[in-house]
Parts: sequence; structure tokens; C-alpha cells
Amino acid sequence: MCGIVAIASKQNDIADLLLDGLTNLEYRGYDSAGIALLSEQQLWRQRCIGSVKNLRDKLQLPKMNAHFGIAHTRWAVRGGITEANAHPQSDGKTVVVHNGIIENTNDLMKCIPDAIWESQTDTEIVVHLISHFVNKGQSFYEATRNTIKMLVGTFALVILHKNFPNVMIATRKVNPLSIGKMHNIGFFISSDVSMAPVDSFVDLADNEICMISHCDNEFSVKFFDSEDKELPYKIWRKANKITTSSSKGDFADFTLKEINEQPNVIQKCIETLDNGDYKHVSEMMKNKDFINFFGCGSSRYAGLIGKYLYEKFICFTNVTIPSEFNYGYMRNPNESLNFCLSQSGETLDTLRSLEFIIDSRDVVVITNVANSTMSKLAIEHSKPIIDICAGQELSVVSTKAFTAQLAVIVSMLIEFVRLSYSESEAEYLRDKFGEVPKMLKNVLQMNFDVQWLLESSTILFLGRGICYPIALEGALKLKEAAYLHAEGLPAGEMKHGPLALIDEQSVCIALAPGYDNFEKIASNVYEVIARKGKVMLFTDEVGLSQFAESNSDLVKVITLPNCMDVQVAFVYSVAVQLLAYQVAKSRGTNIDRPRNLAKSVTVE
Ligand code: F6R
Repeated sequence: MCGIVAIASKQNDIADLLLDGLTNLEYRGYDSAGIALLSEQQLWRQRCIGSVKNLRDKLQLPKMNAHFGIAHTRWAVRGGITEANAHPQSDGKTVVVHNGIIENTNDLMKCIPDAIWESQTDTEIVVHLISHFVNKGQSFYEATRNTIKMLVGTFALVILHKNFPNVMIATRKVNPLSIGKMHNIGFFISSDVSMAPVDSFVDLADNEICMISHCDNEFSVKFFDSEDKELPYKIWRKANKITTSSSKGDFADFTLKEINEQPNVIQKCIETLDNGDYKHVSEMMKNKDFINFFGCGSSRYAGLIGKYLYEKFICFTNVTIPSEFNYGYMRNPNESLNFCLSQSGETLDTLRSLEFIIDSRDVVVITNVANSTMSKLAIEHSKPIIDICAGQELSVVSTKAFTAQLAVIVSMLIEFVRLSYSESEAEYLRDKFGEVPKMLKNVLQMNFDVQWLLESSTILFLGRGICYPIALEGALKLKEAAYLHAEGLPAGEMKHGPLALIDEQSVCIALAPGYDNFEKIASNVYEVIARKGKVMLFTDEVGLSQFAESNSDLVKVITLPNCMDVQVAFVYSVAVQLLAYQVAKSRGTNIDRPRNLAKSVTVE
């Protein structure tokens, strides 16, 4: 979602640094970009719809000796995708970049009736309020403080003002913002400093204000808490820059690279299991009657796969949709153990659920980003965090982070079985889990014939048991990567309604491993064929030996490795990812950055 970069620099390559910073944030997803520079004499800004490259190509940089600059990638929430709505937003005096959403914009607009509006964004209210307070004689700091006190919602803001050309102000509430030091150069502010050229950094706390000033070619920084007290110090943490991610290697895109990284990612998780890293969590699971997963999108489906595995071995397991839980009336028993699953650790819906329960429930945060907002919240409350160790995922479409979440879920299960059942059962599961990386390498060699999908009007993924959430995940991947409408269904539900969709144009993708209940899903497949629907049957040799229609013109059989439930979770998930990828390739979509989507979803 939106990305912020802001720089205070002694050097004159500030625009290049800002644009490079934006490029590093592209993975978050966005639809427009913009930049503004401020010098003693001039406030300059340029924006455009589309990519950072567009902005770079269009850039008409004036000659100016700017020490401060701000830049932004916008993912539209309030106000369409237009240049006028792109950030930085400005009234010619105040200039602002913003992540988050100001929910009381309409009310606040009434406070400044004379303001001239340039955009349909909520951000512009911040611009007008700050200008309003400055015009009344307040300092830049006071104007910022008084403005943020009025805001309802979430924000990360970096602000410049023409009357104060030697100051830059940053502040935040909920949306992350970090201040980095660039040795001998100045400061670098970003929504994500993990790829920024900084030596050390601090994270701003909610409602803190950071003020960077320039004097005699030196910069100084001050931090103020929400009560306006200057903080005597902040602890600067050494930056561990992520460098691997920016290269696609030999792959056509990040999505394919990340799909192919999965055998190694799972292998790494197996090694963590062997190191005994999950013992603590399995202790927490013992004696629980209720386990709950919170997660959105693919993370929710990972939780659903967890439900099928945990209900077999542990206890009643629920999966809660955070955006429904947060403002609904859903219950969560006092004695529950809650796993918050979030690749990014930033998804606001999941973060809100975490905030609601963190004081009163047992919680474990499972994420891929050690410095994420959810991780920090867990640390503050002394709650455990599990790093899924997938390595940074740059494609908006989650693949390796999804299977890494599954790997953590399976690892916790194996440790639980060791603790509560028997060493031999745990070892059996461990051995089966250990076979997964090799199985995935085989799946990754496969090429699917996707023609039927390219021509179809209705695509249904069908699964039973653990394959039902995989069907949901397959449909999600196809929507995201290939922009095709697909739904995932429990196969047994077909006859209760969806069967009405079946005709010559429809394709069902049946996920049907042979080890369990194959004959049941086979019946669902026969029902589809009988109505002239086409079927792509993902099964194995055990399944195939039981299938009566393998010679039908309406069936394409895809033979995956023989596997049991712990393995199915990975093998079938990777198969549907690869299928979606290959369809997307045939349709020529922007696979790494699908339209309308963002990697880090920081609005509710
Ligand atoms: C799907 C996808 C999304 C995310 C969802 C939650 O490919 O990427 O559905 O899974 O937005 O994101 P995290 O896991 O970061 O909370």
C-alpha cells in the first residue's frame, strides 16, 4: 500500500535518492507517484499516474539547492487514481505525504470553509489544517501537533512548509514510519527502511513527532512524545539491509522466483523444527480446548488448513476473519490460544484484532517481517513471535510466505504430537514433512495445459477436507494473478447450488489426492462431466487408479506425487500457484503487481 520516502540531505542528488527509495517500496503496490523538494527559495513538486519509472521519465527537475525532499507511492482509497489525487498534496505552502486514512475528513472540512480544494483525498485536510494554524501565527511544530490532535483515523505523515525551509516534520499513528541515519549525509525517513541506504534507524511511536532541522550544513533531529515532551534520547538500531530481494535472478518475474524458492524455504523451516524452536508454543497448545487463527486473504486460508490439521490432533480450531471480528460481536473464549498470521505483520485488520485481544488472551504472532508493527506490539506485551523465515516476498501475490506459514503450522503440530502423543508419531509426521521439499521440486517442473481456463466463463476449484482451503487459495491466486473469476468450494456443496453454473463453458479444478475420500470427490467430478462441464483433475496415482472417467474428453488429469495430508497441504498449494502463474502468463497480466492490489494492506 502507499509508501513514504523523505530525505534530509547535504548532497544534491536528493531527487535520485527519493526515486530510488520509491522503487524499493514498489512491492507494496500503488497506482500513482509523486515527489516534492524544498529549498530556501522554492517549493517544487511533480506527480504522475502509474509507475515510479513514469515519474522518473517525466521528471523536470528545476535547478534548486534543496536539502529536504518527500516522495510517495499512492494506492487510492479516498479519491480516484488521478494526478490531482497523487501525493505530495499541497496548497503551495504546506506539502504533505500521507499513508493511512483520515476518517473525519468531512467534519474537519467544516472547520476551514475558505480552503480551496485541489483533490478528492482525505490527505488534503492535513495540508489545509497546517496552513490554517501557521497562518494564525503558530510554529510549524505547533501547527502539526494541533492538526494531528484533530485527526481520527490512521496516519504516517511527512510534512514540509515553505515558510520553514530548514525543517522537516514526521509523525505517525498506527501506520509505520522509521527515521534512518545516512552517515555524513543526513536522514532518510521511510515506511520501510529495510532496503533504505541507512546505517541505523528508530521507529516512531504513535503520536510522536520527529523534527529534523538544517543549520550550517548540518542536520539535527529531535523527538517529542504525545505530551510534547522532548525525548532525551532514542535508541538507534543498526540497520540490517535486505539486499537479495531486488534481483529476479534467472526468473522472468518475482512471482516465479518466489514460487521456485519454496523447496528451500520449507527445508529451512524443517531445520528450525529440528532445532527445537517450536517447543515453547507446543507447551502453550497443551491443555487448550480452543485454538483460533486470525488472518486475511491467503493468511486466512493458511489458518483454515491449520484448522483441518489441528482438529484432527489437538482441539477445536477456529479461523476468524479479522475485519468481521473487530467490529462484530464475535466471541473468543478467555482460555483460547490465538495465532495471528500475517506475512507482512502490517495488515491493519489483523493488527486491530491483535490489539483487541493482546492484553487478555494467549497470543502468538506469526510473521515474515521481524520489525513489523505486529512484531513490535507482541514484544511490548511479551508475547511470542514466530518468524516464518521465507525471506522478503516482493510479488504482491503471496506464494512462498503462504507455504512458509503452513510449514510453521505443521512444525507446531509435530512438536505438539511429540509432547502429547508419542515420539514415534511425531517422527512419522516429521519424516513425511521432510519429504516435502523434494516433492515440490517435482511439482515445479510441471507445465499445465491452460487452454480451457482461458476460454471458460466459470472456474470452480473443488476440494474436500484439507483441499477445501487449498481450493479457496487456488481461486484467489487465479483472481489476483490472472484476473479470472474463480471460486473455491467444498466439493460436497456443489449439489446445493453451484451445480447450476455448470455448462460447456465451465471448468472445475478438482483437488483430489487419492489417500482419503477420493471416491467422494470423484462423484462430484462425475456430476460435472454428466452436465458437460470440463474438469482438470489434480490427483495422484492412488486416486487415478480409482477414477472411472480418465478417458473422457471432458477430463484432463494432472498427476501429482502420492501424498498424505501434511504433504497435500504443500504439494496441492504449490500446484495451484503454478497453475495460476501459467494462466496469468498466457493472459499477459502484470503478475508481480496485479492491478488494484497492494502488498501491505494498511487500511481497514
Ligand atoms: C494473496 C495475498 C493477500 C494477503 C493478505 C494478508 O496472495 O497476498 O491475500 O495474504 O492481504 O496479508 P498479510 O499476510 O501480510 O497479513
